[in-house]
Amino acid sequence: MKSFYITTAIDYVNGSPHLGHAYEKVLTDVIARFRRLMGDNVYFLTGVDEHGQKVQQSAQARGIAPQQFADEVSAEFRALLPQLNISNDDFIRTTDERHKRVVRQLLQQLFDKGEIYLAEYKGFYSTRQEQFLQEKDRQADGSWPEIFGEVTEITESNYFFKLRQYQDWLVDFLTKHEDFIFPRYRQKQVLEFLKDPLNDLCISRPRERLEWGIPLPFDENYVTYVWFDALVNYYSAVADRGRWPADCHVIGKDILVPPHAVYWPIMLQALGLPLPKSILVHGWWTVNGVKMSKSTGNFIVPADYAGEFGVDALRYFLIREMNVGQDSDFTRAQFLVRYNSELANNLGNLVNRTLNMTTRFGAGMVPAAGPAGEAEQELQALWEKTRGEVIPLCEGFQFHTGLDKTFAFITATNAYIEKRAPWKLGKSAAPEDQALLRTSLATMAEALRLGVALLQAVMPATAEKINAVLGYTPGKVWSEELTWGTKLTGAKVAEALVLFPRPAPAQK
Ligand code: MSP
Repeated sequence: MKSFYITTAIDYVNGSPHLGHAYEKVLTDVIARFRRLMGDNVYFLTGVDEHGQKVQQSAQARGIAPQQFADEVSAEFRALLPQLNISNDDFIRTTDERHKRVVRQLLQQLFDKGEIYLAEYKGFYSTRQEQFLQEKDRQADGSWPEIFGEVTEITESNYFFKLRQYQDWLVDFLTKHEDFIFPRYRQKQVLEFLKDPLNDLCISRPRERLEWGIPLPFDENYVTYVWFDALVNYYSAVADRGRWPADCHVIGKDILVPPHAVYWPIMLQALGLPLPKSILVHGWWTVNGVKMSKSTGNFIVPADYAGEFGVDALRYFLIREMNVGQDSDFTRAQFLVRYNSELANNLGNLVNRTLNMTTRFGAGMVPAAGPAGEAEQELQALWEKTRGEVIPLCEGFQFHTGLDKTFAFITATNAYIEKRAPWKLGKSAAPEDQALLRTSLATMAEALRLGVALLQAVMPATAEKINAVLGYTPGKVWSEELTWGTKLTGAKVAEALVLFPRPAPAQK
């Protein structure tokens, strides 16, 4: 069995989870479920990033200790996972002992190797971004951009990690491994960034300024810079499990350069540890065309949508709407269009018709199919084509197109039913009509079973429900589930299943 270790970014716990966090979990979950179906031995890690200035400040604002604050918000992030039906194997908090121990071990190793040095540093510091700024960060008029918040000039001694000496190595690595970052144009952006000389990375924060962090093992007057701490989670979670290196880190576009594409590979290289196999970079969601923010009221709470429409409707929308790597816009109107036309009227309709007609004309049992006529052959041929296209699309993270093609097959199955019109055949006593009726019932049920098998990674609960009403338990080997055959012959189906009820019209 091929091992497949996949991670999400770990979320800052200074605010509640929103749609962007939910998307990343769902995307990673779809990949994890798909790889499991493909037979891989998957390990799926997610978690939370609890240290640093932002959390310390948020806790102060609430008048509680950082640990208590982090406990509360982490619980919210953790609660989101079952709400989204996420199949993670592990959940890491950067305040876990297992994590803190490994961060300190790695820091000590780098220090002993001479990769970390102490130096006096004078410069402009942004508290909001927790980083020292450079002259090139200034705006034309000399002021600092808003995103940096309050900027103060400070002089302090700090520990630095020798990033710069690895610059040529990193450029060489990226040039030789074209598929390290998906989509490829992101890798080009990293190489572009690496055209300027790198500065060594300040990896410490004096404790008088920041208490809430992991103390440096070689100097307890400092805590570890939050990114150096956070990135290590991918390794610390599996250090004892023999899972390193990761096969895929799933992250948003804002945290590729420099943390994941520069700091992390260099940290690993300096430690003599293998690099992750790949980094998948997704785009950002806006809501009604603007950046999500609590103050403007366009903050989407994922659990609200999952509660109103069902978790699979939300998962479907997120995966169908976004082309992985690009940005997308979330609007309730577009959500409703897909919900009504694709889920309720297409998939939901196919399920209802199949159950209803099997109940009415087949006494609730899927009959054996007779010889395939032209319409059946066409549908089977479309199935072969669909399966042949969808799997490679999923392997290349093109889930939105994969879903599009799967739904085209569902549309074609509904069209097949229209063509065969079992309700007319049912009225005829002629033996050839009765034979065709049996064939059409068997064909629609089999096509539904197959379509559902392809939807399983995106809509696991829906797939389970549909299989249950078809009286079917899928086998363990997914590839065997994808062959057109007679698996449902004799299956007893349920009379009805309400999958995607009409939403209450009053809400906007
Ligand atoms: N804590 C760091 C990551 C450390 S990983 C070692 C962080 N946290 S975050 O909470 O700000 O973001 C977590 C993930 O959510 C990131 O991958 C980020 O890109 C993603 N998203 C946050 N807002 C988003 C959208 N509006 N849309 C899509 N994803 C977004 O960064």
